[in-house]
Amino acid sequence: MQAFFAESLMNKQYKKIVCAYSGGLDTSVMIPWLKEHYGAEIITYTGDLGQGEDLSAIKNKALNTGASHAVVDDLTDRFVNEFIWPAVRASALYEGMYPMHTALGRPLLSARLVEVALEHGADAIAHGCTGKGNDQVRFEVTAKALAPHLGIVAPLREWELTTRELEVDYAVERGIPIPITKEKPYSIDQNLWGCAIECGEMEDLWAEPPDDAWLMTKDPSNAPRGSIELIISFENGIPVAIDGRPMGGVELIRYLNDLAGTFGVGRIDMVENRVVGLKSREVYEAPAATLIHMAHTELERICLDRETFNYKRKLSQDYEKIIYDGTWFGPLRECLESFLLKSQETVCGEVRLRVSAGLARITGRKSPYSLYDEGLATYSEGDTFDRQSAEGFIELFGLSYRTVAQVRKRMLENK
Ligand code: ARG
Repeated sequence: MQAFFAESLMNKQYKKIVCAYSGGLDTSVMIPWLKEHYGAEIITYTGDLGQGEDLSAIKNKALNTGASHAVVDDLTDRFVNEFIWPAVRASALYEGMYPMHTALGRPLLSARLVEVALEHGADAIAHGCTGKGNDQVRFEVTAKALAPHLGIVAPLREWELTTRELEVDYAVERGIPIPITKEKPYSIDQNLWGCAIECGEMEDLWAEPPDDAWLMTKDPSNAPRGSIELIISFENGIPVAIDGRPMGGVELIRYLNDLAGTFGVGRIDMVENRVVGLKSREVYEAPAATLIHMAHTELERICLDRETFNYKRKLSQDYEKIIYDGTWFGPLRECLESFLLKSQETVCGEVRLRVSAGLARITGRKSPYSLYDEGLATYSEGDTFDRQSAEGFIELFGLSYRTVAQVRKRMLENK
C-alpha cells in the first residue's frame, strides 16, 4: 500500500508549480528538485510579513536558482489589519501564552500562493514545511479551502534529502547559491508579530534557552535601569495611538517591538500541543504582542459587562484553535467574527503601562464606556451602593445551598 502510494506520488507531473520561497536552504533546494521530479516550470512566491529581510535579494536569488518568475509582495498591512487585529480583538493566545505570529501568517501566505497560482495558470503549489509540524496543515487546509483543484507538493515530506549535509551537497552539485553564513542550529520563524525559535539544545525541556537564541529581545538583566511609562489608545478593540500619537498598525507594532524588546519584555518559553499530536518546546519573542494583549484585555475588564467578558473568554479558546489549526477560511471563524466585532464596539479608551527590565505592568485604564462606577465601588464618602439590598440578595443566592445542607444533614442522621 505504501509503495503504491509513493509510486503514484512520484508519477504525478505538473506543468507549473508556484512555490513558497523564503530564500533559505530548504526552499532554494526545492526549486531544482521540483523541476527534476515533477518536470515543472517553477514560479516562486515570497510574502513580506515584516520579517525584516532583503526582498530584492531574495527575488534575485530565486531567479538565479532557476525560477522562471519570482513574485514578491509586501503583505504587512494586510497581515496587521486582516489577521493580527482580529486575533487581538479575540484575545487569542494559544494555550494561554503564544500570540501565534506564525499561525496567523500562514493562511495569508497560502492564500496569496493560491492567487499567484491562479493568475499564472499553474496547476500546483509547493511549500517547504516539514512533515511533523503545524505549518504543513495550515498551508494545505487553506489551499484546499480556496482552490481545491490545485495540486499540493510538500518536498520535505517526500525527498531523500533528509539532512542538511545532503541538501548542501545537492545544492553544490547544481551550482545553487547556499547561505555562506554559519547558520544557528535553530529553526527560526520571524515576522512583525513575533519570533519562534526551536530545536538545538532547547529540545531538552530542562535546558535554559541559550543567549544567542534571542533575536527581538535584550536579556532583561542587561536592560536599561529604571522604567518608562506609555499609554496605548484603543478604538473598537484595536490599538490606534501611543502616548496620544496616532499610528498605523505596522508602525505601532514596530514601535512597541523596539520599546519592549529593549527591556527584554515578551520572552515566552512553553511546551505546546501541536495539531499533529506531539508536544514541542517552543521559545517565542513577542514584545509588542505582549503589551497589546495585556492592555487590550485590561480595557475589556472595564468596558465589558461580566457576562460578556466571561463568555468571550470561552470563545477565545475556540478562536485560538481555529488560528492554530489553520482553519482560518472556514465558516466557524466567520460566525465568531460577528460576535467579536459586536463585543468590541465599546472597547475604546486608554491603558497606561510601566515597562521595566523583563516586566510590563498595567498602571491605569480609562474609557468613555467604562462600566466602573466609583460611587458604587467606593469605601469612602459618596457611596451609592445599597448595602441593605445585599442581605436579601444573599438570602436568595444562597437558597439552594441551604436546601442542600438540610438534605445532607438528614442523610447523615439516617445512616
Ligand atoms: N510552534 C509554532 C506554531 O506552530 C511556531 C512554529 C514556527 N516554526 C519555526 N520554524 N520555528 O505556530
